[in-house]
Amino acid sequence: MKVYLDNAATTPMAPEVLEAMMPFFTTHFGNPSSTHQFGRTVKSAVETARKSIARQLNCSPMEICFTSGGTEADNMAINGAVSQLGVRHIISSEVEHHAVLHTVAHCHTDRDIRISMVDLDKQGHVNIAHLRKLLADSEEKTLVSLMHANNEIGTMIDLDEIGDICAEYGALFHSDTVQTMGHFKLDMAKTKVHFITGAAHKFHGPKGVGFLYLSKDVHIEPLIRGGSQERNMRAGTENIYGIVGMAKALEMACADIEGHQKYVQGLKDYMKKQLCEKVRNVTVNGCEDRSLYTVLNVKLPPTDNASMLLFLMDIDGIACSGGSACSSGSNQGSHVLRALHVDQKSPNVRFSFSRYTTREEIDYAVERLVHHLNPIPVMH
Ligand SMILES: Cc1ncc(COP(=O)(O)O)c(C=O)c1O
Repeated sequence: MKVYLDNAATTPMAPEVLEAMMPFFTTHFGNPSSTHQFGRTVKSAVETARKSIARQLNCSPMEICFTSGGTEADNMAINGAVSQLGVRHIISSEVEHHAVLHTVAHCHTDRDIRISMVDLDKQGHVNIAHLRKLLADSEEKTLVSLMHANNEIGTMIDLDEIGDICAEYGALFHSDTVQTMGHFKLDMAKTKVHFITGAAHKFHGPKGVGFLYLSKDVHIEPLIRGGSQERNMRAGTENIYGIVGMAKALEMACADIEGHQKYVQGLKDYMKKQLCEKVRNVTVNGCEDRSLYTVLNVKLPPTDNASMLLFLMDIDGIACSGGSACSSGSNQGSHVLRALHVDQKSPNVRFSFSRYTTREEIDYAVERLVHHLNPIPVMH
């Protein structure tokens, strides 16, 4: 049996998405910048996709800029805020994705931007009083960059609350919404945020494509130069099939957000209950209430198998992870758990679900996990 419980790393593509993309691999191969009919057909598909994404976010199509994914969109927002919008101080947090953390660090070392990290509690919640203090004490133009939901532990911020606070202090606000896009309703007419980001592969779309939402009040220059695509904000021939697939995937995700949320939250609750019943001393990392419903990160009891656990689960056909996919190659553990002072000697495992996950798959994963945590003693 193969069980995929690593949907925070990436999700399988919906068959309907592939179907929507197929004509753009075959019949509709024109370059959207060409003015002849081959080009025009494809250009019109790109603009239809842009309108569709804008409709889901209740914003203008002009506020959507297609990118190669979440990382590029985060880079574009932060670099743009520094280069074109006069930002000299960035407030962020230690648990951000590396797409944000490394970009912020680069702004510090290469461009002398002041960086402040907001205090977090043990579950990864932002200390609002500290955020207010940092903003109140900031004399420079400030960008706040705080993720909507953490990709490792699922803890969320209240986007509206932080947006209001940033507006109160005249700060720009960027939120990495890569894990919540297509999983929570986002309303750009209501939320005071200047930049949010999306990556299609996190909501059953293709890899290598994403977007930056930038509010019409801000204008930034391209990271990638060499053409006038994306209204001069991102040069290069567009990833047509990716863009078409992403729009279809977001449409499908948003068509029944409540239904998916109820179903996937049910799976998460079910797995948590199973683990609590069958594994002694299991605890949840991150927040249990205001949390991303697709992610369950648990601290398991110490075991001799700790370093082998993910490998043993993999041999059983079960994909889960010890942190984000991007850091899984390193043996330094998770920067998120480290920032929250979670002991990383006993195993911490992230299970992440999607609307395609079933209870039978969870039963199998729990059964194998329990087996590996309580190995049958070898008889000599
Ligand atoms: C919170 C978050 N931000 C950014 C990214 C990067 O997105 P992409 O893989 O599309 O570059 C990811 C993906 O792992 C993520 O989880």
